[in-house]
Amino acid sequence: MTTTRPDPAAPSSTREPLRVALLGCGVVGSQVARMILTRPDDIVARVGRPVELAGIAVAHVGRPRHGLDSRLFTDDPMALVTRDDIDIVIELIGGIDPARTLLLAALEHGHSVVTANKALLAAYGDELNKAAEAHGVDLYYEAAVAGAIPIVRPLRESLVGDQVTRVMGIVNGTTNFILDQMTTTGASFEAALADAQARGFAEADPTADVEGYDAAAKAALLASLAFHTRMRGDQVYREGITGITPDDIEAARDMDCVIKLLAVCQAGKDGIVARVHPALVPVSHPLGSVSGAFNAVFVEAREAGHLMFLGPGAGGSPTASAVMGDLVTVARNSVRGVAGPPQAVFDEYPILPMDDVRTRFQIRIQVRDEPGVLAAVATIFAHHEVSLQTVQQSAIEGADKADGWSATLKILTHEARESDVEACVAELTQSKAVNAAPRVIRVEGM
Ligand SMILES: NC(=O)c1ccc[n+]([C@@H]2O[C@H](COP(=O)([O-])OP(=O)(O)OC[C@H]3O[C@@H](n4cnc5c(N)ncnc54)[C@H](OP(=O)(O)O)[C@@H]3O)[C@@H](O)[C@H]2O)c1
Repeated sequence: MTTTRPDPAAPSSTREPLRVALLGCGVVGSQVARMILTRPDDIVARVGRPVELAGIAVAHVGRPRHGLDSRLFTDDPMALVTRDDIDIVIELIGGIDPARTLLLAALEHGHSVVTANKALLAAYGDELNKAAEAHGVDLYYEAAVAGAIPIVRPLRESLVGDQVTRVMGIVNGTTNFILDQMTTTGASFEAALADAQARGFAEADPTADVEGYDAAAKAALLASLAFHTRMRGDQVYREGITGITPDDIEAARDMDCVIKLLAVCQAGKDGIVARVHPALVPVSHPLGSVSGAFNAVFVEAREAGHLMFLGPGAGGSPTASAVMGDLVTVARNSVRGVAGPPQAVFDEYPILPMDDVRTRFQIRIQVRDEPGVLAAVATIFAHHEVSLQTVQQSAIEGADKADGWSATLKILTHEARESDVEACVAELTQSKAVNAAPRVIRVEGM
């Protein structure tokens, strides 16, 4: 590979610019365009050559774009990414198609790529990484996980000499805002979602966020990076937050915990697992105090110990900051005629089924306050080898009490196997001592 080092003495205007094709000019793309156009001297200082916007592909070319030259715009993104005078393609369209086809074409044309597209990477990251490596160019995607927070490069590069054992993240700002509102105001899920939508923190169709699909895509990227392996979004266990009630929030508070939608990636001797679900987290845990629409990622590494990354996980400017970091890195590599380190895949780990995961659980059961009930419940737990750490009993007031269901047992288990807890809960549901199905929420970070 040839190296074309810039002459540091040459004035920037005499150095040929690197040319960037921008795909998408929406919430993030418009901010990236602004930063490229308004900070040319900073970029020259960092890259060694000017960086120029060669074209911007959008869906609606006629739409007014404040401060941007209308001659830059096209609605033919394929023609733009296959131009020979392009050096770097920044993809901020989102979704699978046409983004996948466009990026494969860009990589095949020898253009390095920067993208924030977690959905695409979680489904086709392997294909894109291989295409980048095959063509000796870069594929960078810092903004795809947790917006402005630097987490992709720390896992890919800074911690590559260590052994990451576990990553726990709050990687979806919408759900964190909703759960935070439920915790601080006592609102129902529906009311907190409506509030999030009114404030612009949730989409009109919030499914991808509240059902955990967005977090699952990011969990797949985190697991692939942390364990230097390959995992897709559809291999991540996923539960959303739509079933969380004010009673769940209160029961968490009683244990000095809050409920968070967590993306948990863990590696053990038998394999790896990534899962997204609501979990009780102690208020005293670093993730317990992450409020509003913020994101955070907590990394446990064998040698480094515990590391916490916190910051804005979305928004035009914060996300564009991460994209610009990638752009400068990729542009520097391009100036030097090299590509950065490829995404290393050292190991193909088996992906463990959720049934084998061991964690702790809070289980709430309505029972009759009668002699022998506690013993009957304890026997069912013992039968399924689910060991109890604490049991709290509290009186029930109101309608359920009239039917004779006068007490709630709030149980915290020791670490137990997921399938054992499932079987235990099924037997509890059938038991005459228990009213209705128990409420079960996993507990992390305790
Ligand atoms: N928004 C955030 O806070 C955030 C945070 C982290 C990551 N991301 C990721 O960043 C990416 C962009 O998100 P965004 O919020 O900026 O999206 P957005 O506001 O919806 O913008 C999408 C842009 O893509 C253009 N576009 C759509 N289909 C196209 C097509 N077929 N050909 C060419 N252009 C097309 C749209 O054109 P028009 O303008 O003409 O409609 C628009 O400019 C996504 O992958 C997203 O997951 C976003």
